[in-house]
Amino acid sequence: MNNNIEEIVKEAILQIKTADLKTVENIKIKYLGKNGALTQILKSLSNFSAKDRKNIGSKANSAKSVIENEIESRKETLRKTLLEEKMQKEKLDYSSDFYFPFSKGSFHPIMQTIQDICSIFKSLGFSVAQGYEIETQWYNFEALNIPKNHPARDVQDTFYLEGTEELLRTHTSPGQIHVMESQKPPVRVIVPGRVYRNEASDATHFSTFHQIEGLAVDEDITFVDLKAVLSDFIHKFFGYGIDISFRPSHFQFTEPSAEVDVQCVFCNGKGCRVCKNSGWIELLGCGIVHPNVLKAVNYDSEKYTGYAFGLGVERITMFKYGIDDIRLFYENDLRFLKQF
Ligand code: PHE
Repeated sequence: MNNNIEEIVKEAILQIKTADLKTVENIKIKYLGKNGALTQILKSLSNFSAKDRKNIGSKANSAKSVIENEIESRKETLRKTLLEEKMQKEKLDYSSDFYFPFSKGSFHPIMQTIQDICSIFKSLGFSVAQGYEIETQWYNFEALNIPKNHPARDVQDTFYLEGTEELLRTHTSPGQIHVMESQKPPVRVIVPGRVYRNEASDATHFSTFHQIEGLAVDEDITFVDLKAVLSDFIHKFFGYGIDISFRPSHFQFTEPSAEVDVQCVFCNGKGCRVCKNSGWIELLGCGIVHPNVLKAVNYDSEKYTGYAFGLGVERITMFKYGIDDIRLFYENDLRFLKQF
């Protein structure tokens, strides 16, 4: 019987050594369960003499605890290796971009463009000012040399605030007036902001959009300064390879006035649907500040001259990234926004 117990222990240990978690449970049942080999021996002790009973009993009991320990330590080893394997597989690299389970937020493309443009102009010595979205007729029109009967005042274009003399600014140009009212020349400033126009929306028009106004007033400012600053800005924004053209135009608050065209970014100037086969796209309006505007803010128009420009942020963003519908900026579709 003694030999028998030793055999059982040997055999059990051998099996336990290579068992997985499931078989180890079966081995436990096989040796220590209700009908297990060792349980059988312990149950049959009454058949033996008192002396043998004690001897075999204690042998069987210690065999039982040897097997139990062996099973426990095997289980422990198995659990550890499984855990290690799992940890290895699920190892988290906290420095990886992919670790964070939520997508990171980012600036809206319009905000990004405003920041990009502001930083280019800051590097050219301009400061950034804020205007007001709600304006009076004086700031939005009169001070900018737009008389009462001018088509830009047409009720169709302007959102008037009911029961007041106020309106939602139709451009950022009233920002020029606020800046000049609050400081003496020299002035070098840009004014980014949201503007409103009462018009139907389509792929290139929306009732609210953003502009960036630029203004410089000093002694001896000429059109050459305007051309140099705008060319430098456009090259920094779009790259040095792009062609620029100044085309005569008309704005009430600048004289002379120009519109700046750039080589079409969609077809590289070859001609396409966007540029209506001309190879050029219109980027911004600009000119030399009209003396009436300087007079409106009590600047000495004999002593000072200046230039001003205004560009549409949505438009320039569409050109930069090849976006063909302005409405995409306002739909808040994450599939669109995530690309920026
Ligand atoms: N305010 C003009 C517009 O909205 C743009 C402009 C600004 C033109 C400054 C000339 C000078 O179209």
